Amino acid sequence: MTAFQGVDHVGVGVSDVDEAIGFYGRHVGFDQVLFDHSGELPGLEAFAGRAPRARVAMLANGGATPIGPGRVKLVQVLDDGGPPPVPEGQAWGEVGVCEICLHVRGVHEVHEALVAGGCESLMEPMSADVPPNGVTLDIAYVADPWGTKLELIEWTGLWRSLPGPARAEGVNHVAFGVTDMARTRAFYERLGFTQLLFESVDFFDPMAPWYHEPWYDPENLPAQHMTMPMAPQGAAIEPTVLDPPGHDCRGEWGHLGPMDFGIRVPNVDAAVAGLRADGVEVHGDPVTVDLGGGREWRYVAIGEPDENYVTIVEARY
Ligand SMILES: [Fe+2]
Repeated sequence: MTAFQGVDHVGVGVSDVDEAIGFYGRHVGFDQVLFDHSGELPGLEAFAGRAPRARVAMLANGGATPIGPGRVKLVQVLDDGGPPPVPEGQAWGEVGVCEICLHVRGVHEVHEALVAGGCESLMEPMSADVPPNGVTLDIAYVADPWGTKLELIEWTGLWRSLPGPARAEGVNHVAFGVTDMARTRAFYERLGFTQLLFESVDFFDPMAPWYHEPWYDPENLPAQHMTMPMAPQGAAIEPTVLDPPGHDCRGEWGHLGPMDFGIRVPNVDAAVAGLRADGVEVHGDPVTVDLGGGREWRYVAIGEPDENYVTIVEARY
């Protein structure tokens, strides 16, 4: 039985990896480049319709803690035409990856620092709590210079950060839209996301300004059913169902903005064998990308219920 280890990373499409490494290193604390690889990426045909050529940089946050352990994967598509555009009309919660959430110490200070560093404020810092257990949190949102929604959370009712200055830690969770919560919950339980941190069915009013015409009627916004299943390790997932459903915002693989995520396992071959035995769709065999120096990036694409772009990852770097 493979031990699934939570979300390893969230992939975000960028137009210039060098600029993005600079920004995420200087302003968001992702100051460690674990690898920086350019080339063809086999095994992603099911997502991209081809083996895309891309530059991929995997960034870790030197201040990451167990509640913000996830990494950020910058992807710059190098094929003709460059990175595909951000899906039009994405508010939040449509099918597709819609945010990267960072655990931070000091939401107010980090929000202020990111805005000073070139981010747009999408939600001013506030305190909230989530049902059914009333877990408290401080929350704010910014958009990075390329439009990616970065949520900043300090889970004050769950885990106080280690001492030190205000800072962004690593990725706490990835949010993405789905169409059938029960089906999604069952699928991700099989992948180790067995602990439910919260479940809410009310529209989160501070997000209302994100839902624009002609995609939405601001007077009549969809209901948001959000859940946050966690694995014992790694970052969490936040699948969301909009009712009525939004349009498909998965976009082309590699598009600008958040677009895929990886779930970590210690051994991708063993994980694939187990998933296949349970009838989970796996797209081909695991791929090994040689990163030099004995380092390898191993992954395989899987058939997520809403065909969100999800891989299983063995991080040998
Ligand atoms: Fe979130």
